[in-house]
Amino acid sequence: MKKLFLLPIFALLMAQVCATNPPDEGMWLPMFVKDYNYATMKHLGLHLTAEQMWDINNSSIKDAIVELGEDGDHFCTGEIISENGLMLTNHHCGYASIADHSTTDHDYLKDGFWAASYKDELPNQHITATFLVRMEDVTAKVLKGVTEENRDDQIETAIKELTNEAEENGRYTAVIKDFYDGNQYFMFIYEVYKDVRLVGAPPSSIGKFGDETDNWVWPRHTGDFSMFRIYTAPDGSPAEYSENNVPMKPKYSLPISMKGIEDGDFAMVWGIPGSTSRYLTSYEINLQLETTDKPIIEFCDAVLPVIRAEMNARDEVRIMYASDYASWANTWKNQKGELSSLTDLGIADKKAEQEKDLLKWINASKARKDKYGNPVDSIKAICESVDVTSFRYLYYANFSMRLSKLLSTAISLDVDLPDGQKKFSDEQKASIMEAYRESMKNSDAKTEEKIIAAELKLWMSLPLEDQPSFCTVIREKFHGDCDAYAHAAMQKSVIASEAAFQKYLDKPSMKVFMNDPIVKIAIGVYQQLYFNIFAYYYYDGAITEARRNFMAAMLEKNADSPMYPDANSTMRCTYGTVCDYSPRDGVRYSYYTTADGILQKEIPGDPEFDVNPKLKKLILDKDFGPYAMKDGKLPVCFLTNNDITGGNSGSPVINGNGELIGCAFDGNIEALCSDIYFDTELQRCICVDIRYVLFVIDKFAGAQRFINEMNIVK
Ligand code: ARG
Repeated sequence: MKKLFLLPIFALLMAQVCATNPPDEGMWLPMFVKDYNYATMKHLGLHLTAEQMWDINNSSIKDAIVELGEDGDHFCTGEIISENGLMLTNHHCGYASIADHSTTDHDYLKDGFWAASYKDELPNQHITATFLVRMEDVTAKVLKGVTEENRDDQIETAIKELTNEAEENGRYTAVIKDFYDGNQYFMFIYEVYKDVRLVGAPPSSIGKFGDETDNWVWPRHTGDFSMFRIYTAPDGSPAEYSENNVPMKPKYSLPISMKGIEDGDFAMVWGIPGSTSRYLTSYEINLQLETTDKPIIEFCDAVLPVIRAEMNARDEVRIMYASDYASWANTWKNQKGELSSLTDLGIADKKAEQEKDLLKWINASKARKDKYGNPVDSIKAICESVDVTSFRYLYYANFSMRLSKLLSTAISLDVDLPDGQKKFSDEQKASIMEAYRESMKNSDAKTEEKIIAAELKLWMSLPLEDQPSFCTVIREKFHGDCDAYAHAAMQKSVIASEAAFQKYLDKPSMKVFMNDPIVKIAIGVYQQLYFNIFAYYYYDGAITEARRNFMAAMLEKNADSPMYPDANSTMRCTYGTVCDYSPRDGVRYSYYTTADGILQKEIPGDPEFDVNPKLKKLILDKDFGPYAMKDGKLPVCFLTNNDITGGNSGSPVINGNGELIGCAFDGNIEALCSDIYFDTELQRCICVDIRYVLFVIDKFAGAQRFINEMNIVK
């Protein structure tokens, strides 16, 4: 109460800005920002020209935005923050790389890592950094000559031709993606850099402070950042890793603001959101709850705690499974949040209202009726015909394979003896063994046994007639005891350990392999995948067509007010303001947190809330250097109402002057329906304050070499 009365008048006014200017919801295509969004952005406090953000001839903000990929698959966003190719992203984005370089002797997950010089920066085989050069609307070219009969083939051919030409003999990578469910096509021309090195990461007690308890939660006190550097060939061109490579000279790097933030300040996020389904119908939402959210939660409930327990018990297991576990646990909590917020906020009902509006608009004109029919009814019929159980088992099977390295190895190993051969040659043995090792990398036998037992329990919980065949054996020979069965299977299996597998390779027999108890479980699970996948194919084919029609109608209905397209791993801009929120009646959360909260959350020795002693001392001594706010406190995280989703992690949060104020890393649990519905009042983007990032690099880690190369605006 008292605090409210003390609030200076301008803060109240700023809070009003936030309330009266709802965020311009949406992840907008950068090419259209100038036409669609720029005026609103200026109104909210942007001082840049549209060309300073997006320009294909001169350097602009877009040139500092990095799409991070693993073997080409997009997973996060990063931003260039120095003239020497230094890149900032989240700790959870760098996590797999940090774990990869960790051992129990030099545990960078636990202790952090700060490269002391260029030569200490650690290469990563699988990470790519991709820059967008330009984009182009190719709808007319892709859809030229398309009829209902030849659609897929025709589109595929057109895409091949267009991308081939645009790639200029390998200089660029060109990708064409469909937008609005196949109603529009855009081509993206990229430059892909393959030498991306880890240069800095705080200990997990900072970078992952609060871990799963705080994940998706505000108020937050996590220093969720890590740093990489992109290297190029000496002539500046993209190149595979080489000792001779040099730090990149980027087209643009973001200046960094030390000025801090206030409630209501303009904030925009540029990044690469993965996927959203904002135009889903009520029927698809209700179906998704049953066919996706619930099975994922059921599976994770059954298996993840088992892995966690093994990780907690042994350090080497913790490091091995760290990255996979973190990403599964993140999905698990996200799905639970999505399920409850979709239900609690009555999102399907809200969508049903929009569907009524659309039908009213269609039915008001004969031409429209002829063109679109009743697109909502078509979707409804498809949804009603879905066999929910098939989808459920499909998830169980897919996830059983993905979570158990042993089961996926059993299916993927090529152990067939070539015709006429009774034994493998030494060369063949070596190559099969190499595949085995690669597939079993980062796995631990005891943990695998526990995972398999947990998965067996899930399969055994199904109605008898739906159970895979291995369940009969468990019931009849092991009195239904899955732990005992998994244990016996591990003892007997020829693939359970490298030693056992080597022995098998010395004396191979397909009969032995096919009767191997682990292989049999894997085959049983794989069959489930196979039996149930047709339900998915059928649904996917039917819904794709129905959705294209539905979206075509939506686009025409909204022709006067641009609709943003769903996220699809292409670059987007979202803008709004720094902003607080009310999670529930009677509660209002502040828009920022400070280091005080780190000490308030401290639980000494706890894996999630232990505070690093050096950090604690700095906080107690208020030794914040130049990074404190005017009141002497150290800012840690803040909120905006920017519209982000998975894939945006690590995206720059940029102020009205084009300076970096933070790095986006999370969403809030109250609005986890956000991939389907953006709730203006509730949805927030959680960001780590750039001043906390600088404080950790400078005061905590003493890694001034990085501070020195940044352009910090005081
Ligand atoms: N929820 C975040 C996202 O999906 C990931 C946060 C990672 N941190 C953690 N404590 N698990 O982008």
